[in-house]
Amino acid sequence: MDSIWIRGGNKLNGEIPISGAKNAALTLMPCALLTEDKLTLTNLPRLADVDTFGHLLNQLGVSTSVAGVKKGEFGRRMTLHAGELASTVAPYDMVRRMRASVLVLGPMLARAGEATVSLPGGCAIGDRPIDLHLKVLESMGAEIELAAGYVKATAPKGRLSGGDYSFPVVSVGATENALMAAVLASGRTQLFNAAREPEIVDLCNLLVAMGAKISGIGSAHLIIDGVEGLHGTTYEVMPDRIEAGSYACAAGITGGSISLIGARPDDMCATLNALAQAGLMIEFHDRGIKVSADGKLRPLALSTAPFPGFATDMQAQFMAMLCMAQGQSYLEETIFENRYMHVPELRRMSASVDIHGRSAIVHGVDGLTGASVMATDLRASMSLVLAGLAAEGETEVLRVYHLDRGYERLEEKLSAVGATIERRSSG
Ligand code: UD1
Repeated sequence: MDSIWIRGGNKLNGEIPISGAKNAALTLMPCALLTEDKLTLTNLPRLADVDTFGHLLNQLGVSTSVAGVKKGEFGRRMTLHAGELASTVAPYDMVRRMRASVLVLGPMLARAGEATVSLPGGCAIGDRPIDLHLKVLESMGAEIELAAGYVKATAPKGRLSGGDYSFPVVSVGATENALMAAVLASGRTQLFNAAREPEIVDLCNLLVAMGAKISGIGSAHLIIDGVEGLHGTTYEVMPDRIEAGSYACAAGITGGSISLIGARPDDMCATLNALAQAGLMIEFHDRGIKVSADGKLRPLALSTAPFPGFATDMQAQFMAMLCMAQGQSYLEETIFENRYMHVPELRRMSASVDIHGRSAIVHGVDGLTGASVMATDLRASMSLVLAGLAAEGETEVLRVYHLDRGYERLEEKLSAVGATIERRSSG
């Protein structure tokens, strides 16, 4: 199994191209199920999760073809074609591997009038139920049955009908499923307390480009007027705000300066504010955002929240950076329970972090030390890479498959700005 090996202590300086957003790609790809025409997505990141989603779509009868990528280029162009569906079942084997597989539920139901999807089960960062996905579809007339670990959803008379739903808590995935179902329903659907993440805006923009009628885009109140059919289009996946934020933390923790090429400031306000409060200098230029640190980091108090709040997907990376701040930082995780799995590993690298339920106190230390570490989820793995970049000595991050799910060519991008980092294969 591969590992990432790092010799820490280098200040990182230079430019990092930001890839297409993983979480946007995973909600744009299932839109191919909504039309008999071809959908082409550009700037799709080369990630394990994108490949897994492609395989799931293949099983449903969607053909996928990828245009060749030239050496040194990031991203790729994929054409997806769901001329006719071969199956309406997303099996346990796929959903178990990637929870986002549940995002085929809404579009399959809209297209075929039925969909059967395995329940995702537990997941490393908490319980993560799908009750809201089901409730919002029920508000559009879907009939839901649960049996043998599967959810079977059926649209009476083959088509959903518009309905109103107010989410009791903000859910990115449930908002996405609802949007993809509502665009082909008969009549008007209104979603209240909908998620406002930039990836939801990207999804709405694609659906509108395919012929959908959606208003309130970017707000918590989405109004969808169902149409009879959607058509194909070509669409560019938005840049990954979480990848960009992660590399900004790399500049912070190493006292370096990195230009995040292609990053969009409006998608990252909470992250950029937090970086500025920690003492980093933020500059905007026409190709992206430059973040620079002078080696001194101020402590922070941060609480995760739905967009436009501070993203839960940035919590682990900020924690690693704040280990090197001068003073005590306070973090609160409000979205997922169990999202401090990186803490025991960071402690092995000399970090000083206390956990009290959903709160963490990070006591800044003078230095971190390299160690062999492993993590249980994607962002936790990145926090260990960040700690390794600043640590004295060598760090080996095991279970690289977590990183490969969400960071395109991580070691290439970090080496290009001066990190001593490589992928090692243990055969
Ligand atoms: C998405 C992102 C993930 C990010 C998360 C929150 C993708 C592929 N993943 O995950 O990276 O960390 O948003 O920004 O885009 N909940 C319920 N019932 C439901 C659905 C969710 O109770 O049916 C709860 C969850 O347990 C959690 C909260 O709602 O406490 C938010 O989860 P949600 O926004 O749905 O996260 P995902 O869409 O799974």
